[in-house]
Amino acid sequence: MSRTVYLNGAYMPEEEAMVSVFDRGFLFADGVYEVCAILDGKIIDFEGHMARLERSLGVVEMSVPVTKSELLEIHRELIRRNALEEGAIYMQITRGAADRDFIYPKGVEQTLVLFTQAKDLTSEKDGLKVISAPDIRWGRRDVKTVQLLASSMAKTMAKSKGKDDVWLVEDGLVTEGSSSNAYIVTNEGKIITRNLSNSILHGITRASVLKLAAELDMEIEERPFTIEEAQNASEAFITSATSFVYPVIEIDGIEISDAKPGPVSKRLNQVYAEESRKSAC
Ligand code: PDD
Repeated sequence: MSRTVYLNGAYMPEEEAMVSVFDRGFLFADGVYEVCAILDGKIIDFEGHMARLERSLGVVEMSVPVTKSELLEIHRELIRRNALEEGAIYMQITRGAADRDFIYPKGVEQTLVLFTQAKDLTSEKDGLKVISAPDIRWGRRDVKTVQLLASSMAKTMAKSKGKDDVWLVEDGLVTEGSSSNAYIVTNEGKIITRNLSNSILHGITRASVLKLAAELDMEIEERPFTIEEAQNASEAFITSATSFVYPVIEIDGIEISDAKPGPVSKRLNQVYAEESRKSAC
C-alpha cells in the first residue's frame, strides 16, 4: 500500500506527488528540512524542531509558509492517514520553482513536502561500528539544509567497508556523525560532546538528552574531542531524532566498552524514550 504524502496544501498518494524540475531544492539544494520522531502515534520534541526550522529558514532568508499550528495539524493528519505508530516524519521546505538563477528569486511560492517513514525506534540497541572520515561539508552545518551529499558519500563509504557510520573529523577534532551528534563518556563518567557552533547541527535530541543527563546529576562538558580520546573513552554514543541514544562500540577498529552498549548510553536512551512518550504531542 502506498503512503499518503503532503504537498503544498494537499494530501495524496506518493505516486501522484510531483515537484517541478525547476524547484530550487532540486537545482540548488535550496531548502531546509526537519525530521521528527513518532512514538505511539505522537510527535517527539515538536517545539524544538519547529524552533530550529524557523532558525534555518531565517539564515537563508526564507520563512515558514504556514503557521506553526497548521504545521502541527499537517503532521497529525499525516500520522493519522498513514496509521503511523512508530517512525519519523520528514518535512522539507524549499524556495520553490523558478528559472535557474543563482540569485534568490522573489515572489515564488515555496514548496512544502511531508512524508512518513515507519521505523522501529525503541527495540534493544546493539551498537554501531564507526570509522572516521574528513568533514568536507560546508561551513554552516548549524543550518539543516537538504545538501546532504557529503554525509551521504561518507556513510556509503563506511557501509562499503562493513561499518555502520562515520564520525566526521575537522582539524583533528570530531565534529559529529553523518546524521547525528557524537558523544563520549570519560573513565570518570563525564559526558563529553562538542559545543554548539556553526561546525555542527544543533541537535534537538542533543538538547533534550543533555537536559535529562543534567537532571540525573550526570556531569557534562561541552567541548571538542579527538578520535584517539574517543577510542580511550569508557563509552561512546550518538543522538538523533531517529536513533535516540545509540551506543557506538567500535571506532576505527578499536573496541569501546568491550564492544557492548555501556550503562550511560543505555540509561539515557531509556530515560529519553520514557520522557519523550510523556511529552509527545
Ligand atoms: N539528522 N547532526 C546531523 C548532521 C544530523 O543530520 C542530525 C539529524 C543530527 C541530530 O539532530 P536531531 O537530534 O535534531 O535529529 C545531528 C536527521 C535525523 C536526518 O537527517 O535524518
